[in-house]
Amino acid sequence: MTASTAEASPPARATDDARTDADISVRHLWKVFGPRAERIPADPELAALPRAALKEKTGCLAAVCDLSFDVEPGQVFVVMGLSGSGKSTLVRCLTRLIEPTAGDLLIQGQNIRDADDKALRELRRHRVAMVFQHFGLLPHRRVIDNVAYGLEIRGEKKADRLARAQDVIDLVGLSGFEKSLPSQLSGGMQQRVGLARALAGDPGVLLFDEPFSALDPLIRRDMQNEVIRLHREVGKTMVFITHDLSEALKLGDRILIMRDGRQVQVGTGAELVGKPADDYVRDFVREVPKANVLTLRWIMRPHRPDEPLDGHELGPDVLVKDAVRAVLEASAPVKVVENGELIGVVGDHEVLGVVAQS
Ligand SMILES: Nc1ncnc2c1ncn2[C@@H]1O[C@H](COP(=O)(O)OP(=O)(O)OP(=O)(O)O)[C@@H](O)[C@H]1O
Ligand SMILES: [Mg+2]
Repeated sequence: MTASTAEASPPARATDDARTDADISVRHLWKVFGPRAERIPADPELAALPRAALKEKTGCLAAVCDLSFDVEPGQVFVVMGLSGSGKSTLVRCLTRLIEPTAGDLLIQGQNIRDADDKALRELRRHRVAMVFQHFGLLPHRRVIDNVAYGLEIRGEKKADRLARAQDVIDLVGLSGFEKSLPSQLSGGMQQRVGLARALAGDPGVLLFDEPFSALDPLIRRDMQNEVIRLHREVGKTMVFITHDLSEALKLGDRILIMRDGRQVQVGTGAELVGKPADDYVRDFVREVPKANVLTLRWIMRPHRPDEPLDGHELGPDVLVKDAVRAVLEASAPVKVVENGELIGVVGDHEVLGVVAQS
């Protein structure tokens, strides 16, 4: 075969293109602050430098480096990492509140990197809403007017926007406080107003940047449960930033762990806990009660020939914590069955190994 025919028909390979069927699809996304930032992603040598070395050599700070991930419709995608790892920069790049330096970015199939001002306005007003740590409420407006504010900007009629605002106020549990001013509400309630404001425009995607980190622990737990409930009721796609692992595990279908702008691991909570990519992730998950996160799929072993088995069957997606009693009470290892097929067994040894680490 000549070189030119080889070029004309390249070998089939899995493409690395951004996906139009995901709600958010990001490929090789960079945000570099500093002089002539564009040269960093374009130069493989500079692009490979760790953040501190790059800063020293070029004076540029790589806040987000070469991130690629997909968020499926209806999924809760959590971004985690220590302070300074680039979480807020990433989430602001998604709607171009911060202009990315390089990479591809599709939201619901639309190319956001190429979007003009009008398309960006449409995106931010109608399709993607943000909830911030500091609630950003308008202090002199009543709750209902804060909630309706985005609809007002869109030019919706007063009666329509107040009716819609009332619906979402009821949804987030603030009925009765419509006429209050933000300063008359507790932090948790103010964040409910922030949530209601984000939901009012009925966006397909909600972005949360550490919305509950300023709240005290009990209120925070209430708000996490509130997000889980709302997610169940409204089924929005959510990107949720936190540096609290228990929050990440509670809310996230998938979790992206960032360090110094880079992606260290993306996976389910069970994947991070069961198979941490490196010591940084291992450190994050060290304190997690493993039995609450791992499923039997992670701890089952093959059935040994001639080994007696207990009559019980469990599914592979049962959490270890929910299987401990049945396994320990059984007289022999318990079958793990999926679609009618024996795919493994778990005995005392396997469950106790996990419980001991919890
Ligand atoms: N406008 C800017 N100019 C220069 N550097 C910036 C700018 N904005 C952010 N950075 C730097 O980018 C890095 C990532 O910051 P970012 O705020 O995204 O981190 P984060 O993970 O959200 O941290 P935190 O958990 O503290 O909110 C930090 O080193 C920060 O100093
Ligand atoms: Mg931040």
